Amino acid sequence: MRGIVVFGYLAALVSPLLAVKPEDFKTCSQAAFCNRGRALSARAAASKSPWISPYSINPTSLVFSPSKSSFTAAVKSSLYPEIKFELQVDILRDGVARVRMDQVDGLRKRYDEAASWALLKEPALKEEGQIVWTDQGKTGMKAVYDDVELITLIRSGREEVVLNGRGLLHMEHFRTKTRANHSQEPTPENAWFEGEEEHGFWEETFKSWTDSKPKGPESLSLDIDFPNHPHVYGIPEHAAPLSLPSTTGPDPAYSEPYRLWNLDVYEYESSSSMALYGAIPVLHAHSTKSTVAVFNALASETWVDIHHPTPDKSTATHWIAESGILDLFILPGPTPDAIFEQYARFTGPTALPAHWSLGHHQCRWNYISSDDVRTVSRRFDEEEMPLDVIWLDIEYSQEHKYFIWGQSFPDPVQMANDVAAIGRKMVVIVDPHLKRTSNYPVYAEAQERGLLVKKSDGGEFEGWCWSGSSAWVDFFNPGSWTWWTKLFSLVDDPSAGWRWKDSTDTMFIWNDMNEPSVFNGPEITMVKDNTHYGGWEHRDVHNVNGMLYHNATTNAVMTRTGSPRRPFVLSRSFFAGSQRIGAIWTGDNMGTWEHMAVGIPMTLSVGIAGLTYAGSDVGGFFGNPDVEMLVRWYQVGAFAPFFRAHAHIDTKRREPYLYDDPHKSIMRDILRLRYSLLPVWYTAFREASVRGIPVLRPQYVVFPKDSRGFALDQQYYLGASGLLVKPVTTQGATETEVYLSDDQVYYDYFDSQIYRGGSKSVTVPAPLEKVPLLIRGGSIVPTRARPRRSSPLMKKDPFTLKIALDKTGFAARGELYLDDGETYAHQQGELIWRQFIASKAEKKKVLAIRSVDLVSRAGGEGAVDGITLSAYDRENAFARDIADVTVERIVVLGLESRPKSVKLENGKELQWTFNEGSSAKGKKSGAASLLTIKTRDVYIVEDWSIAVEL
Ligand code: GLC
Repeated sequence: MRGIVVFGYLAALVSPLLAVKPEDFKTCSQAAFCNRGRALSARAAASKSPWISPYSINPTSLVFSPSKSSFTAAVKSSLYPEIKFELQVDILRDGVARVRMDQVDGLRKRYDEAASWALLKEPALKEEGQIVWTDQGKTGMKAVYDDVELITLIRSGREEVVLNGRGLLHMEHFRTKTRANHSQEPTPENAWFEGEEEHGFWEETFKSWTDSKPKGPESLSLDIDFPNHPHVYGIPEHAAPLSLPSTTGPDPAYSEPYRLWNLDVYEYESSSSMALYGAIPVLHAHSTKSTVAVFNALASETWVDIHHPTPDKSTATHWIAESGILDLFILPGPTPDAIFEQYARFTGPTALPAHWSLGHHQCRWNYISSDDVRTVSRRFDEEEMPLDVIWLDIEYSQEHKYFIWGQSFPDPVQMANDVAAIGRKMVVIVDPHLKRTSNYPVYAEAQERGLLVKKSDGGEFEGWCWSGSSAWVDFFNPGSWTWWTKLFSLVDDPSAGWRWKDSTDTMFIWNDMNEPSVFNGPEITMVKDNTHYGGWEHRDVHNVNGMLYHNATTNAVMTRTGSPRRPFVLSRSFFAGSQRIGAIWTGDNMGTWEHMAVGIPMTLSVGIAGLTYAGSDVGGFFGNPDVEMLVRWYQVGAFAPFFRAHAHIDTKRREPYLYDDPHKSIMRDILRLRYSLLPVWYTAFREASVRGIPVLRPQYVVFPKDSRGFALDQQYYLGASGLLVKPVTTQGATETEVYLSDDQVYYDYFDSQIYRGGSKSVTVPAPLEKVPLLIRGGSIVPTRARPRRSSPLMKKDPFTLKIALDKTGFAARGELYLDDGETYAHQQGELIWRQFIASKAEKKKVLAIRSVDLVSRAGGEGAVDGITLSAYDRENAFARDIADVTVERIVVLGLESRPKSVKLENGKELQWTFNEGSSAKGKKSGAASLLTIKTRDVYIVEDWSIAVEL
């Protein structure tokens, strides 16, 4: 099978026009349940009389909790009056509503654990909202709490989220297979509800595969509408714009619904609603007035149609899933930030990554030997290009038996130690398919312990992947977790069986192919009737599968040495909650400008859905980018949270040191720029790890009331730093348009050119050597300017603060978070969190620049999760460790005139230079004035104050 696939890979090199074969993947009409779901909405839309939902609540069945913050009710469908359903609505923390519906006393049970994998813990009821039942006749279910209607959620008289407003709710009940309902033939209309035609109920074929569907139909359909929200974002992963275009209605951008079904789609299209490697069933709806969101906790194949009944005003969505209960969370917002916080409180914020992992990663399929690895490391050093991590793809392993080193890696421990000598790490791939051979201890142990995924007949599932004939560990089986952890242990325990001895604590892990990818399976994945722990079919749990693998490896890596350290495990597949685990990347993109461009909204989209630690393969996985494209791709990568260059085995080598100047120097500069901004990245990650606010912030997140920015997805802000970037993703560009929403001054990061905003676009020069990067007035950006070979070598380096004055000419703020970057000591208060403030001192015409301890300011809250002021000691061990780290330079942009003096608070004069230029105040453009203060005795861990007298 893979022969064909491999041919596909090679063919792409010959002609870049070759791409994914869409016919290898289902359309909605080829998935029987989706076909039925879409037929239902078509029937409703075509209905002459208003379409009425057949489902209704029996008002006499309503049972409220004593506090009225939850209720249950019996639901029935007029189509099948004998079938019983139960609806439960709970008001949780932050006014989040959880709406559950399941069949009662059915023949079987529907899968109800998707939410529990995603959630941090089972959420408790919050006794603050009250639900009041209002009977809405047959048109839908309605409930009200306080003055806000819930299932139809109304805020200030506006409808916010409407469930079943179009009457498309349908939960196919379990039934017994009879001769009569075994028919494979759809009716001409594929009708539902009038006799409910049984197309694909009991068996379904796609290409050469037949899905036996032993449980019969159980699909779930629901319309979720946002009558007052013109933009919707999220439901990654799709190669699509951030503001999701229509899939139905007049003139849809895509003819297929957005599909959520984790798949290995090599050479995916650069604009499509097709499924990709990960799935987060979270959708945000946004307008100038509010943001709301839904998290539809489904792990089965799900399709989402989107259209805009009134363009620029409303959005209607229709969700069709193959199996599982209805388990929907409605997040009331009302701002993008509130949504992020609400979602993070339920599913957990981003894990704070190891600091080094925010550096530059160099990968290719494959570095072929340990000497090759050493050479790559040395060449980066010779060219003075910073690098933190060298990666090994599958060819390191003997016959793709992961963990087992092949012949060309005779000294893996020495190799890793050589790389680690200057603080570099390695990442080694461990895929989930285990070669089925008894001389492979990992497979043999998994088999012996009964940990492998089974076929529907109970036998071991066998499929093909890189290793040839393979089996897969069932990570739904809790027994697999401790066993998997043991494999990675670096601590000797002779009684524990096999472990990866020839590895080191500077080797981290890459989990690929975990959708799972099965080369000879339907749509390159596992057959749906395989069974997992607990008896669930693969169809029920598929979208969670990759996350559980990622989680098991991450836990293993965290405890390798006995004492916990921050792990790093990259995954290709993901689900809601993956942000608690680690990074993901956007899979096998192609070396085209279109793929470079779509990588940005893809990264923004997973970010707003909680998973902010993401990036795309720099350079494009397939193909040989020319040097212009490669340079631009490094610029994109340097502004992605996860920054890794990677390339397919058949591509030419393209490490940046291989190029001639000027390109080599341009790439060196962009790598150095990334490293100089590591303090900004790490500080942004702290905020993501506490509040859940994404590291990359799209325009609508920062300016939620400015509708002109709602569809922008090529420019974005970096945390709360005030840095606004718009990487160039078109060939031959020499300038680009950047939209500035607010009436504020913005400065070019490199030449201090002033741009003045206010609902307008400005033209920013973008020659090849320049990534368009602006600092918003009012920001203070902490940087570290010394070029180093790897980020751990920067630990004691001094800081430069870049102060971009706001349009008053007298104000700016910024912050810096730091800790040891590797352990969990920060959770015990070993950290520093500083705020820098520039403001007008009481005395007129004095700009006071101060550094204050933000932990004390914030009352302890927010530095890291759970820390309190009483648990924080400013003299903590980490702060002592970096006590001699200085702020060596402060640069002030936009001062209105040459200072008279610059003094420390003890009156000591400081050295400074001033370049005349435009002031932040007023209307002038041109380069901003530049005050450069060379500081002395100013330490990053201390409070200090500097007075600039004008
Ligand atoms: C998959 C991955 C790719 C990797 C290759 C070989 O295609 O997406 O990144 O290089 O497998 O392991």
